Amino acid sequence: MAGKVIAVVQQKGGSGKTTIAVNLAVTFAGRGLSVALLDTDPQGSLGRWFMARRERLGAAGVEFSTSSAWGVSYECEKLRKTADIVIIDTPPKVDADLRPALREADLVLVPVASSHVDLWATEGVLDLARRERKRVTVVLNRARAGTRLGEEVAAAALAMEAGLAEAQLSNRVAFAETLGQGLGVDETGKSAARAEIRALADEVMALF
Ligand SMILES: Nc1ncnc2c1ncn2[C@@H]1O[C@H](COP(=O)(O)OP(=O)(O)O)[C@@H](O)[C@H]1O
Ligand SMILES: [Mg+2]
Repeated sequence: MAGKVIAVVQQKGGSGKTTIAVNLAVTFAGRGLSVALLDTDPQGSLGRWFMARRERLGAAGVEFSTSSAWGVSYECEKLRKTADIVIIDTPPKVDADLRPALREADLVLVPVASSHVDLWATEGVLDLARRERKRVTVVLNRARAGTRLGEEVAAAALAMEAGLAEAQLSNRVAFAETLGQGLGVDETGKSAARAEIRALADEVMALF
């Protein structure tokens, strides 16, 4: 597979950018794809996850690097050549700094945690991605299936004229726990969480 770039962006902190970046990376790697993670968030939680992973497993099974917002193009140019999939994790903001990551992206994933506040934070990111003419897919995270809030957020996301992933990630301890352990849910026995991330990975592959 030729290096495809996924940028995970969302202005709202805590929406699940790093969780989705990590779990997609682990799931793709488990399918035999070579995956490179690129962290542009100075908070460095992806790097912490990667260090925990190295300590735990020895070989991480995925590549990891960091770059400044403006170093993204240069890094991506390199990573595309060797990795099947490059996943860029970004800081919680929408401004010009996000542009290089959006420009490099073949697909922009926007996690929206199940609340209206998160949804409101999404418009700015969608505008910016549209200006770069990028394909955007909203992913509902910490979803509460069968609740009115969940349905409202899903309907509002659809109305924003971005793609809405059919796969959703529910609010599950497994997602939080594995992040601290340097793992992805696909590597655990948590079958419900695994089914969700696998469905999302399938959908992302189909979009390429
Ligand atoms: N689906 C989920 N279920 C449970 N906890 C989650 C889920 N998604 C994210 N979290 C937790 O929420 C917090 C913020 O997620 P994170 O991925 O770091 O967000 P961001 O990178 O957008 O700031 C973390 O503690 C993470 O473990
Ligand atoms: Mg993060």
